[in-house]
Parts: sequence; C-alpha cells; structure tokens
Amino acid sequence: MNRFVPTELSGGAEKLIRGRHATRAFRPEAVPEDTLRRIFSLAGAAPSNSNAQPWQVEVVSGAARRRLADALRTAHAAGRTSVDFPYAEDMYAPVHRNRRAEFGAALYGALGIDPDDHTARAAYDAESLRFYGAPHAAFLFVHGDGEARLAADVGAYMQTLLLAMTAYGVDSCPQGLLSFYADTVRAELGVTGGKLLVGISFGYADEAAPVNRVRTERAPVESTTVFHD
Ligand SMILES: Cc1cc2nc3c(=O)[nH]c(=O)nc-3n(C[C@H](O)[C@H](O)[C@H](O)COP(=O)(O)O)c2cc1C
Repeated sequence: MNRFVPTELSGGAEKLIRGRHATRAFRPEAVPEDTLRRIFSLAGAAPSNSNAQPWQVEVVSGAARRRLADALRTAHAAGRTSVDFPYAEDMYAPVHRNRRAEFGAALYGALGIDPDDHTARAAYDAESLRFYGAPHAAFLFVHGDGEARLAADVGAYMQTLLLAMTAYGVDSCPQGLLSFYADTVRAELGVTGGKLLVGISFGYADEAAPVNRVRTERAPVESTTVFHD
C-alpha cells in the first residue's frame, strides 16, 4: 500500500510552495507547447466541491495575446471597465488594508514610484495590461451562477495552476486587474459563458528586473489559525 511519508515529501512541497512568487517582468521566450499542456493538465488535479470542476480556462499566446493586450489597453484608455465580481476598497478589514499598504510601498519602492504619485501608479497599471511582458496569459472563468462557492473552487484551481507552473520552472503573476475588463476579454476570445475571476500572466522571469526581487511576508500562523483540542 502506498503510504504518505511526510518527512520525505514535505521538503519538496515546502520548497515548491515557498518558491512561488509573483513575477512582474518577463523575458519574451515562449513556454514550449508540451510544457504548457503538462502544466494545464496537472492544474486540473485541483479539488472542487463534489468534483464539479466549475472552471473554464482560456490561454492566449502569440498573435492572440498581442490582440488582447491591444484591446485591453484601448478599453483602459476609454475607461471601459466591466467586472463580473464586484470590487471595493472598503471590502477589506483594517488589518488587511494595512498589509495591502505595506505591500504597495514595497512594490512601488522597487519600481522607484512614490506610492502617493497616482499618475505614475496609473501608468504602471496601464502597462501591466501588457501582461508585464509575459508571452502567455491564462484567464480563469467561473461557470454556473458564479457565486462564492464556485469561485472558491476556481481559486483552488488558480493556486494549483500557479504551483504546477512553479514545478515546471515557469514564473507567473495572478492579475486581478485583468478581470476589470471582463467584457473585452470575452469579446476578443469569443467566450460566451462564465464570469471572469482572474487573469494570470506567465512565462520566464527577467531576473535582472529589480521588481522581481520584491518578496512578501506572511502573518504568523498564530494570527490566522486556531488549533482546537
Ligand atoms: C487574486 C489575485 C489577484 C492579484 N492581482 C494582482 C494584480 O492585479 N497586479 C499585480 O501586480 N499582482 C497581483 N496579485 C499578486 C499579489 O500582489 C501577490 O500574490 C501578493 O502580494 C503576495 O506576493 P507573492 O505572490 O509574491 O507571494 C494578485 C494575486 C492574487 C491571488
């Protein structure tokens, strides 16, 4: 019988989980097609409620990626946003708002942007619609009525996908910003159903870019987790 051996497996799993970081500058080289297929096939091993697998994944590369990046920037310039999942700054509790601010200071510090310089920040956001230079992007749609439980399944798929990419040496950045242009993504890709949860830019990191040296901390386990006996 196969038995789980924690001491042997945990080292590799820990390295994989802690080795994933958001990448915000990519080299242009494409990921080989067979690696793409292996990654997305592995991501499909994600768990979901009753194994419904309520995700639909659209991957863009090459000319399709270029067309979509252009369409996103046009929509952005025209202020044509469309969200399937509402977003509001005030959805965050104060403790989470503080963590966001700390992260923002580290990110904009690495970019040499003053966090209060809203013009420079907006320009960076606009630029990020080019997928931070990544040769590929994946768009995760939630099917069914798209409510919280189904979105949670697609969240599990997202993390499984990010770890599958890490396992294959592929770097990534989940970008909530890409989901602010859901109608544009649908129109460009001919998608008719589902709600757009998130886009993920991926490829190979430009290791020389200072922004890729940003590292984030996590709250200690005691502040998020209670063990009951
Ligand atoms: C759902 C989701 C949406 C995100 N949206 C963006 C985004 O729009 N732009 C961006 O640069 N990073 C985005 N990120 C990346 C987070 O900023 C990053 O995961 C977080 O700061 C932790 O850093 P790490 O991924 O390097 O561990 C997003 C991450 C998630 C999970």
